[in-house]
Amino acid sequence: MFGNYADLQGKMILVTGASSGIGAAVALALAEQGARLVLTGRDKSRLALTAQRHPSITRIAADLCVAAERNFLVDNTEALDGICHCAGISAPFPVKFVREKQQSQIMDINFSAPSLLTSALLYKKKLNVGASIVFVSSIASAFAYKGGAMYSASKAALEAYSRNIAIEHASQRIRTNCIRPGIVRTGIYDETTRIYGEKLMAEHNNFYPLGIGEPEDVASLALFLLSRASRWMTGANITLDGGLLAGK
Ligand SMILES: NC(=O)c1ccc[n+]([C@@H]2O[C@H](COP(=O)([O-])OP(=O)(O)OC[C@H]3O[C@@H](n4cnc5c(N)ncnc54)[C@H](OP(=O)(O)O)[C@@H]3O)[C@@H](O)[C@H]2O)c1
Repeated sequence: MFGNYADLQGKMILVTGASSGIGAAVALALAEQGARLVLTGRDKSRLALTAQRHPSITRIAADLCVAAERNFLVDNTEALDGICHCAGISAPFPVKFVREKQQSQIMDINFSAPSLLTSALLYKKKLNVGASIVFVSSIASAFAYKGGAMYSASKAALEAYSRNIAIEHASQRIRTNCIRPGIVRTGIYDETTRIYGEKLMAEHNNFYPLGIGEPEDVASLALFLLSRASRWMTGANITLDGGLLAGK
């Protein structure tokens, strides 16, 4: 289903959140194109499951919120042609219950980890000329929902960070783009259904003209953004929502 992006053959690409959901789908799609991969996540056994589908994969288990583990990843990664930042959580909280703990729980992994990781890789010259960076953001960066204040803020911050990379690193042809998915069937979807209830989720899902997404739908767009087919795109936020916002 992914098409053929021949230029990804042999490219070295880091995928975070590769132990499940969208990150695992991106990793498998890139492996199909012949990319060389560094996969990271916290759960070693699920990371191994993703990696076993392809021989030339390096696995580095890391909690990206821990500076020492992030630095280990940076130091043990060879120069990259691309990154797909998928690690993230949703953790909904009503605005009035947000305290430092809830704020840092989301901001640390959704914003601080991918931005500090990218900055460190750039500083250590571990992104090759022409590299492509993809951040998995969310439609929540621009659209509110009850309980989404911190999640929306984390993704909006990520998009702002991405746009600045686009300006600062265009001279090296380093590109950066954000994917804004609507609801995708992954662990986050299961957790959201547990919190909001099956009835509410079913009602919401009905607003998607093409139904809710699968991880492979996001992987498909990530492949395009990581390949040279998107060579004139940088600093963009691309909505991928099965038509949800078309009717809003
Ligand atoms: N599913 C949706 O509806 C949806 C919609 C819009 C955007 N997104 C975004 O898509 C991205 C991927 O989410 P998903 O839906 O694929 O959910 P998922 O299946 O729960 O995957 C989340 C991934 O993030 C990793 N992760 C979480 N905390 C981490 C930490 N501290 N350090 C390192 N890795 C960590 C997890 O690794 P371990 O399990 O190994 O800890 C896991 O691989 C997220 O950024 C999410 O915000 C999802």
